Amino acid sequence: MPAKDEYIAAIDIGTTKVVTIIGRMNKKNLLEIKGYGISDCRGIKKGIVIDIGEATKSILNSVEAAEKNTKMFIDSAYIGVTGKHISVVNNWSEITVNSPNKIIRKSDLDRLLANANKLNLTSQHEILHTLIKQFVVDDEKGITDPVGLATEKLAVELLVIYGSSTLIKNTVNSIRSANVQIEDIILEALASGEAVLTPEEKESGVIMLDIGGGTTDVAVYKDKKMIFTYCLPVGGDLISNDISIGLNIPFAKAEEIKRKFANVDYNFYESLNRVNMSDIKIDRNKATLNIRLYSIVNSRVKELLKLIKEKIESYGFMYSVPCGVVLTGGVSQMKGITNMAASVFNLPVRIGVPNEVDGPSEVAANPIHATGVGLLKYASQLQDYALDRTEDKKSNGSLLSRFREFIYKILKN
Ligand SMILES: Nc1ncnc2c1ncn2[C@@H]1O[C@H](COP(=O)(O)OP(=O)(O)OP(=O)(O)O)[C@@H](O)[C@H]1O
Ligand SMILES: [Mg+2]
Repeated sequence: MPAKDEYIAAIDIGTTKVVTIIGRMNKKNLLEIKGYGISDCRGIKKGIVIDIGEATKSILNSVEAAEKNTKMFIDSAYIGVTGKHISVVNNWSEITVNSPNKIIRKSDLDRLLANANKLNLTSQHEILHTLIKQFVVDDEKGITDPVGLATEKLAVELLVIYGSSTLIKNTVNSIRSANVQIEDIILEALASGEAVLTPEEKESGVIMLDIGGGTTDVAVYKDKKMIFTYCLPVGGDLISNDISIGLNIPFAKAEEIKRKFANVDYNFYESLNRVNMSDIKIDRNKATLNIRLYSIVNSRVKELLKLIKEKIESYGFMYSVPCGVVLTGGVSQMKGITNMAASVFNLPVRIGVPNEVDGPSEVAANPIHATGVGLLKYASQLQDYALDRTEDKKSNGSLLSRFREFIYKILKN
């Protein structure tokens, strides 16, 4: 865990953009964003590296932009990962406390957690996080800190999050090729949840949906803990793609129209009549185009929300989330999505932007930066017992890294 006031960097490698953010947790426990760099992302699809060279270039561009913006040199960073290869499993571990007076010591916890980490995963998988759901001391459940309690038997219930070793390795290699050392790898859903949810929501029960360009990261929280996560390999790109096909226009134009004019609620089109599609070369009247655009975005967004709801329902979490749904990520900006999500989930819905963050508002108050800001927040609060992975850290500096250091010195002077 980084020291208070120490600057750290995070890199969010999204489907549409790579963002590098530098910040620090100050002594008042407020995250201060010093600066950031953003670049278009190529070589990543649905959270997965599909072209290491392109991904590395995008990462390098965003890192260098952040260095220029902050006049700081980035040596290492916390990295986000996601993708449909991520899975979760509940795990349980139990030990006999063998101190003479049966008082639980920190060393007992270490033994318990080391035991729990021996989950039988194949070599194709690797653990990203082992999160503590609760300790159980002599059948007493819901214990958060058992050190100092007296017992014969100490048990822990854990949520183990793991993913494909090769796919994680590809992300690691892209970062290393950009000559950035890896401090830790953090699940993007955990990061976004950390950024946008309030402590009350996490305690009472809430669903967080970070809907990005290529993925939807789902996290369910209850009793202050993340109890479930899932990545659906679908996001806003699919909507733009359908608009592009449906209106016979290039993807970039479809993307622009979607952001400016699309609304999942048809009443909005009719009353405001804002859609200006003069750029569209095909001969269709405005009313027809309105209906087409509306029906594409309405059906796509509804389909996406229903898919997520079915998944959460299948795990039985729909009835343990009184605080409803918090939407974040770029697609949370889609006009009308809050009402649609409220009717699909039959729960209260709000848009989540990073909270308790000081810094430029285009980052600190923007849902597209939930993951990047959350990586910094999560990293700043890593628990002693988190058992997060420690390998894959610290690659050696190379010529390129020295070159970047040189540039940094120039910037500084
Ligand atoms: N105002 C808007 N209305 C509708 N969609 C929007 C709006 N602004 C952004 N989006 C969509 O949000 C998506 C990008 O979101 P975000 O930046 O969170 O994704 P990402 O982090 O790059 O990708 P991912 O997290 O899926 O890997 C794009 O599909 C974009 O079209
Ligand atoms: Mg994202």
